[in-house]
Amino acid sequence: MTKLFVLISIAVLLCIVETGHCWRFFYNGRVVDKDYQNTKSWNLQSSPSKYERWFTQKLDHFNPNDERTWKQRYYVNDEFVNKQRNIAFLMIGGEGEASADWMESGAWIDYAKEFKPICFQLEHRYYGKSHPTEDLRTKNLKFLSSQQALVDVAYFIENMNIQYELSPDVKWIAFGGSYPGSLAAWLRQKYPHLVHGAMSASGPLLAELNFDQYFKVVEDDLRLYSDDCLNAVQEGTIQVNTLLKHKLGQRNLDTLFKLCDPIGRNVENSLDISNFFSTLAGNFAGIAQYNKDNRKSNRQHNVTLDVLCNIMVNQSIGPQITRLSAVNNLILSITNQECLDYKYDKMISELRNISWDSITSEGGRQWTYQTCTEFGFYQTSDYKPQIFGDKFPLDFSVQQCTDIFGPRYNLTFLQDAVERTNIMYGALNIDVTNVVFVHGSVDPWHALGITKTLENRAPAIYIEGGAHCSNMYPKSENDTPQLRAARVQIQQLIGSWLDL
Ligand SMILES: *[C@@H]1O[C@H](CO)[C@@H](O)[C@H](O)[C@H]1NC(C)=O
Ligand SMILES: *[C@@H]1O[C@H](CO)[C@@H](O)[C@H](O)[C@H]1NC(C)=O
Ligand SMILES: *[C@@H]1O[C@H](CO)[C@@H](O)[C@H](O)[C@H]1NC(C)=O
Ligand SMILES: *[C@@H]1O[C@H](CO)[C@@H](O)[C@H](O)[C@H]1NC(C)=O
Repeated sequence: MTKLFVLISIAVLLCIVETGHCWRFFYNGRVVDKDYQNTKSWNLQSSPSKYERWFTQKLDHFNPNDERTWKQRYYVNDEFVNKQRNIAFLMIGGEGEASADWMESGAWIDYAKEFKPICFQLEHRYYGKSHPTEDLRTKNLKFLSSQQALVDVAYFIENMNIQYELSPDVKWIAFGGSYPGSLAAWLRQKYPHLVHGAMSASGPLLAELNFDQYFKVVEDDLRLYSDDCLNAVQEGTIQVNTLLKHKLGQRNLDTLFKLCDPIGRNVENSLDISNFFSTLAGNFAGIAQYNKDNRKSNRQHNVTLDVLCNIMVNQSIGPQITRLSAVNNLILSITNQECLDYKYDKMISELRNISWDSITSEGGRQWTYQTCTEFGFYQTSDYKPQIFGDKFPLDFSVQQCTDIFGPRYNLTFLQDAVERTNIMYGALNIDVTNVVFVHGSVDPWHALGITKTLENRAPAIYIEGGAHCSNMYPKSENDTPQLRAARVQIQQLIGSWLDL
């Protein structure tokens, strides 16, 4: 409902907080939306959803000597369930608070009306209100991993089967979008005896330290609008670089981009400069990833790539840099920011906050930790040619891991972490059945997922023009025929897995 934006981490993007958003990846680790920061404390005091329940979960599934437990939140909706109680749907939670809105809306609920399952959603450990440890100090984050999260789901399923008196041959179908899209596929891979099928939307199955194709896809998206748009962004970036070189230019940048701190004071700080360029690139990335996904909140501000490109090619606004600043002003306004905050130290100090009450506990700190210990996914400026400059290379992302979590989290550590993840899950060679991999062509994350059917029992659906997780949202009259067809095809696949 809220038009709230969250700007995220190292890893990722601009994304909207709302009812029923797909799990978000954070871009530069933090929430910048002022309204959102205000409503967050309000949310925490609001009365719990009627679907909310709690489950006692083990802290460390890989150490039988550790008997500590904690309370994991889940939601349940049994209004659709059939008499045999032989079908269960599970929405897997991800790197943010689990939204109760999913319990009554979204494509999976349309499928539920058809197939009559009991519907569950399990919040991911360390996100939302599922707090396994008393705070988020690095030592305590050692229990935060996709592997632990998958065992959480396995225990959850075993227990729900008993608690809700499900049929001995109940078939569970898992759903997930974004990181939980990967979890859904991995769940079917690791626990085929518990999970009968999985809908994996926009899931990056290949862990990659330097995810430089991300901005390559954003570039392709802009080119689809026109070469002029692409060239204007590139030219604007060059002009920013030129202005950075002298005092008068720096003062121009302060005004043009509404910088919170004068850039002249920080121009020698390469981390600030990296953060500045990364944020300007993020203005486009955040819109590209969610372009026309027809989510409710997205409809409120209706800023699409077309809107950004219309600005970029409009010569009467001024030179390319002025158009770039107009895009920046638009993004600041829809994220309720008065000025552009590019200070690296400030960002890092927020991400170092270990309190559950901090604004980055919304997910930025935790997700950054997962990128530093499992996935990488750093959206760097290392691809060539690049239209957003080359000022946020891989080093910039690695530096953030080191600065937030300690010297141990250096390049070598991160390379090993990513390799471990790919060995454990098989990356794009994952061998599964009854999984459908769904991706959208405008969503940069498709570059790390399965977009072609290699095995008929685990087909891929590649939605031309589709955004991140677009197939998961409630139907809209603005949906493209390709998106509609994808939803129908997914329903047919689920029906075939269920023998219905
Ligand atoms: C979005 O659309 C509404 C009505 O359709 C319009 O009033 C509003 O100005 C638009 N917002 C933007 C940012 O274009
Ligand atoms: C271009 O920008 C000018 C000045 O802001 C505006 O008046 C005009 O409507 C824009 N043209 C298009 C085609 O959007
Ligand atoms: C962490 O965040 C909380 C809540 O916003 C704040 O009260 C606290 O001062 C922060 N701690 C540090 C060390 O900045
Ligand atoms: C990272 O730290 C380890 C020691 O913890 C060291 O052996 C390694 O050389 C370091 N790697 C880099 C790239 O600095």
